[in-house]
Amino acid sequence: MIPSEAFLAPRMSAVQESPTAAVSVKARRLVAAGRPVINLGEGELDFDTPDHVKEAGIRAIQTGQTKYTAVSGTPELKEAIRAKFQRENGLDYRPEQIIAGTGAKQILFNALLATVAAGDEVIVPAPYWVSYPDMTRIAGGTPVIVAGDEGYGFKPRPGDLAAAITPRTKWLVLNSPNNPSGAVYSASELRDIADVLLDNEHVMVLSDDVYEHIVYGERAHTLAEIEPRLIERTLTVNGVSKVFSMTGWRLGYAGGPAWLVRAIDILQSQSTSNPNSISQAAATTALNGSLDYFSQRMERLRLRRDHVVAALEKTSNRLRGAAPDGAFYVYANCQGMIGATTPSGRTIGSDIDAVDYFLDAADVAMVPGSAFGLSPYLRIAYAVDEDTLATACNRLVAACSQLS
Ligand SMILES: Cc1ncc(COP(=O)(O)O)c(C=O)c1O
Repeated sequence: MIPSEAFLAPRMSAVQESPTAAVSVKARRLVAAGRPVINLGEGELDFDTPDHVKEAGIRAIQTGQTKYTAVSGTPELKEAIRAKFQRENGLDYRPEQIIAGTGAKQILFNALLATVAAGDEVIVPAPYWVSYPDMTRIAGGTPVIVAGDEGYGFKPRPGDLAAAITPRTKWLVLNSPNNPSGAVYSASELRDIADVLLDNEHVMVLSDDVYEHIVYGERAHTLAEIEPRLIERTLTVNGVSKVFSMTGWRLGYAGGPAWLVRAIDILQSQSTSNPNSISQAAATTALNGSLDYFSQRMERLRLRRDHVVAALEKTSNRLRGAAPDGAFYVYANCQGMIGATTPSGRTIGSDIDAVDYFLDAADVAMVPGSAFGLSPYLRIAYAVDEDTLATACNRLVAACSQLS
């Protein structure tokens, strides 16, 4: 028989295409068909990679840094990562506790693949970044979703986390600032979570800090900094994608216990080998350089965030949402749209219907909360320029006013 879909391994039934990527595909298809779609679905800032970082990449090509490197990264990059963790987070890692990979995503994936077996559980607070549950399933494990509630800033309550821990729990995933909610865990909230973990010493923590610098108030904290006793049980994951607008360069990194970093290194050595050598050189410059350039970008993000929240206030409660403390997303509550009727006579029954309505009637693409494990919400990514965002907000407000 000629191979067809049945040829695929059973593990493929455990995963789906990333819903955020699916929205982008749909939006791009409509744009290609001539529709003026604005995509507020993408988790990627419109800002450019800073010039001094680009130049470091160009220099790397010109000076022949175009060969294989150590799987876990060049000594220069690992030293830059070590110094970053020390300087910004107060975390002391030895070189063998540090690894660079092809995006934070690859490191998270390999960490789960290296540690999770059939029947193992991974606690994922919702709303969550779409990849954690699927990565867990690919590794053969079971994601255990702990719903955050809006009234508690979309963060998991420590008591709920404690109740979700079983003898099979391998990991707790923490992501602050959070995609999709923009929530930032305060030092005291992390302290409470740390206390739960100290009582459950078999559980490891994946601290996904990729949005660390995108905060509007107090700086973001990471778990191992709040509770040094947890440093041996935490993989602190970060990357250059968000703060340096380097999504396409694919460079992420982590610090953690040497035995775990070694296992991630082995998986990486048998799949992709080292992350791109040119990206490593550029990331070294990025991490060693100043972050001063970013404050101006943060001011623009703050204005955008406030613009989105002000627009929500004009929707007669069809959409609601408070200004989040971090990242570049507003997780808007769309309960006020459920049960409403569109001008074409359709009833909106879910956040997926709401997304379809905005795409069809307003040419604005967003991702439904169901993709992130908490409904009914819409994730609005204000990662587009100010004029485009203003147009999108006007369209959302107008589309809401058409509902009855
Ligand atoms: C929460 C979170 N973690 C990790 C990543 C992946 O980052 P990277 O580009 O470094 O793979 C993303 C990207 O959107 C993200 O939102």
